[in-house]
Amino acid sequence: MAKMAPISNQAAWIPAKSRPLEVGPGPEPDPSEDEVVIQVAYAAVNPTDHMMQDQPYFELQYPFIFGTDVAGTVVQLGSGVTRFQLGQRVIGHCDSLLTRKATNAGFQLYTTCREILVSAVPDSLPLANAAVLPLSVSTAASALFHQLELPFPLLAPKHTGKTVLIWGGSSSVGSSAIQLALAAGFDVATTAGSSNHEYVKNLGATHVFDHKEPGVVEKISKVLKPGDVVFDCISSPSTQVACGKILESIGGGKLPVVLLPREPFPDNVQGVFVNGLAPGMFALNVGDAVWCKYIPQALASGKFQAKPDPEVIEGGLEKVQTGIDLLRQGVSAKKVVVEISKE
Ligand SMILES: NC(=O)c1ccc[n+]([C@@H]2O[C@H](COP(=O)([O-])OP(=O)(O)OC[C@H]3O[C@@H](n4cnc5c(N)ncnc54)[C@H](OP(=O)(O)O)[C@@H]3O)[C@@H](O)[C@H]2O)c1
Repeated sequence: MAKMAPISNQAAWIPAKSRPLEVGPGPEPDPSEDEVVIQVAYAAVNPTDHMMQDQPYFELQYPFIFGTDVAGTVVQLGSGVTRFQLGQRVIGHCDSLLTRKATNAGFQLYTTCREILVSAVPDSLPLANAAVLPLSVSTAASALFHQLELPFPLLAPKHTGKTVLIWGGSSSVGSSAIQLALAAGFDVATTAGSSNHEYVKNLGATHVFDHKEPGVVEKISKVLKPGDVVFDCISSPSTQVACGKILESIGGGKLPVVLLPREPFPDNVQGVFVNGLAPGMFALNVGDAVWCKYIPQALASGKFQAKPDPEVIEGGLEKVQTGIDLLRQGVSAKKVVVEISKE
C-alpha cells in the first residue's frame, strides 16, 4: 500500500441525535485494499443529513459523522487500487451509512471511499461543482439501471425510442437521472417549477411539465406510451400518487421511489425503494458501468454536466451545520456545498 505519514484528521461530529455538529479530532484513515483516502476540498449537503439530524431513522452508533458527497485529492491508496494515483482530483460517494464506519463519512478532512464509488475529475471541472454529483449519480443509477434495468449508459447510446418520466428533474437526483437516462438511449419527459424549465431542457429533457399545474398528471399521461418508464425523484405522498397514476395509465410496472413507498399504489404498479447508498450499485455491475466506465469518460468529454450548480459556503468544517440548516429551508436547482479545506 502506498502509505503516507499519519494523518491529523478533523471531523464535524454529530455527538448524539441532536444539533449542532461539533468539530474535533477525526478518525485515522486505515484503507482496506479496495479503498482510497481523499483529502476533502468540498463536501455537499443532502436532505438525509438534515432528516437524520431532525428525526434519526438509521440505527447509528453515536457520535457519528454525516456526509456522503466529497470532491478532493487522493492521498492514500489501498493495495488493490490501480485506477487512481496519489494527487489525482476525484469525487467520491461516501458509504458510511452502509458500513456504519466514521472513516467512510464525508464531513471530515480525510475520508475513505470504496474505489468503485470514486471517479476522476477533469481539470476543466472545478471541485466545488463536481462535489454535487456522487449521491445523486448513485441514486439515479440504482433506479435506472438496477430497478428499471435500462441499458448501461454510453457516450454514444443506441436510441431506444422509449421515454423515461423523471418526476422532479430540477432536483439533485433528477438532474443526474435526466442525463443518465439520455445516455441509456431514452428520451426524457420531466417535471420542474416553471422557473427551471430552461434548466431541465439544457440537461436534455424534451417534454417539460410544471409539477404545480392543474391537470399535469393527465397531460404527462398523454405523451407517454406503454413500455415507457417512470422514476419519482421526489417521492412525497402526492408525487407518489401522481407517478402511480401515470404509470397505471400506460400499463403499469415498477416505480422507483427515493423515500419509502406509500401504499396503496394501483394494482399494476409496484413501488420500489431506491437505495443510492450502495447495494444497488454492486448488483448487476451497475457500479462498474457507471462509476468506473461512464462517469469519468462523460465528465472528461463534457457529456455529463455537474448539476445543479453549487451554493458554496466557505469556512471549513465549522460551517457544515450552517450548510445543513440552509438545505433544511429548501433549494431550487441548487446544491449546498461546504468548502472543507483549501485546494
Ligand atoms: N433513497 C436514497 O438513497 C436517496 C438518495 C438521495 C436523495 N434521496 C431523497 O430524494 C429526495 C430528493 O433529494 P435531492 O437532493 O435530489 O433534492 P433537492 O435537490 O433538494 O430537491 C429540490 C428540488 O425538488 C423539486 N421539487 C420539490 N417538490 C417537487 C414536486 N412536488 N414535484 C417536482 N419537483 C419538486 C424542486 O423543484 P422546483 O424548484 O423546480 O419546483 C427543487 O428543484 C429527498 O427526499 C431525498 O431525501 C434519497
